[in-house]
Amino acid sequence: MAGLWKGTSVTELSVRVIERTDEADAVFALVLAAADGGDLPSWTPGAHIDVAVGESGVRQYSLCGDPAERDRWRIAILHEPTGRGGSAYLHRTALPGSTLSVSLPRNNFELGSAPEYTFVAGGIGITPILPMIAAADRAGARWTLHYGARTKAHMAFADALLGRYPAVNLVPQDVSGLLPIADILAASPGAAVYCCGPEPLLAAVEAEGQRQGMTMRTERFVPRAVDRTGPDAAFEIQLAQSGRTLRIAADRSIVDVLESAGVPVITSCREGTCGSCETPVLDGEIDHRDSLLTPEERDSGKTMMLCVSRAHSEVLVLDL
Ligand code: FES
Repeated sequence: MAGLWKGTSVTELSVRVIERTDEADAVFALVLAAADGGDLPSWTPGAHIDVAVGESGVRQYSLCGDPAERDRWRIAILHEPTGRGGSAYLHRTALPGSTLSVSLPRNNFELGSAPEYTFVAGGIGITPILPMIAAADRAGARWTLHYGARTKAHMAFADALLGRYPAVNLVPQDVSGLLPIADILAASPGAAVYCCGPEPLLAAVEAEGQRQGMTMRTERFVPRAVDRTGPDAAFEIQLAQSGRTLRIAADRSIVDVLESAGVPVITSCREGTCGSCETPVLDGEIDHRDSLLTPEERDSGKTMMLCVSRAHSEVLVLDL
């Protein structure tokens, strides 16, 4: 497994599958413990880990257990037999007693402090929301959860949620249609909105939230479509720490060029969704193409994902 995380400072952990359960149609959950016993690294609601999935590389899965349980992590996986191969690999191999190579938790979807939250989840997107709800509830905040999926049978953890929080709003599409996003957001105009799910849901929540002037956080595990106005152009990067200048050809990514030049860079997903390659930018205009920075973070121009983002200016100065 070594070397799946290219770069120099990603810590790989070996974890053992100690429990595997079916949580919904095509969704199974794994409880993971440190392979050598003892506590696992701490994490906060919204965090995910990278999991090595054989020839298919690595995939990101949200931690969906209780952060207070330091001897175990829980993840849940949507088994997509015709997907890119990651979930099929885990479905086949992640059996109780087997070991997996994973990264330390990383959180690109941090739960901020707020008096009121609106949580919106679609399908397997419920996973990062589960520990958020528990944290919000513990903090005494007002919150609502609106959870949609194709059918009730496709809703992982639905019964556990209902048992613990009877007021959660489950919206199986075959019975109740799609989540009524405009109504949901309008019902709590002062709430901080956290949403995870398939792209159409995320796009709808972002568009409606923007229209209603709300604070939103979304998380994607597949890249969002990028609006391209023309063919990619070449540009230069200057590495402020080493003083080197490198040319990024139109058909190459910054990560490719850095690796070819022997500059260490941490990567995982290489498609702009995980945050591993986030790097401070000191000067230049960034062409953001990732799927995780907020509009405010993009506008600040201070950071970028080197695996997918490019430059609008001739030169970018990176803090490398
Ligand atoms: S490697 Fe995942 S965002 Fe760049």
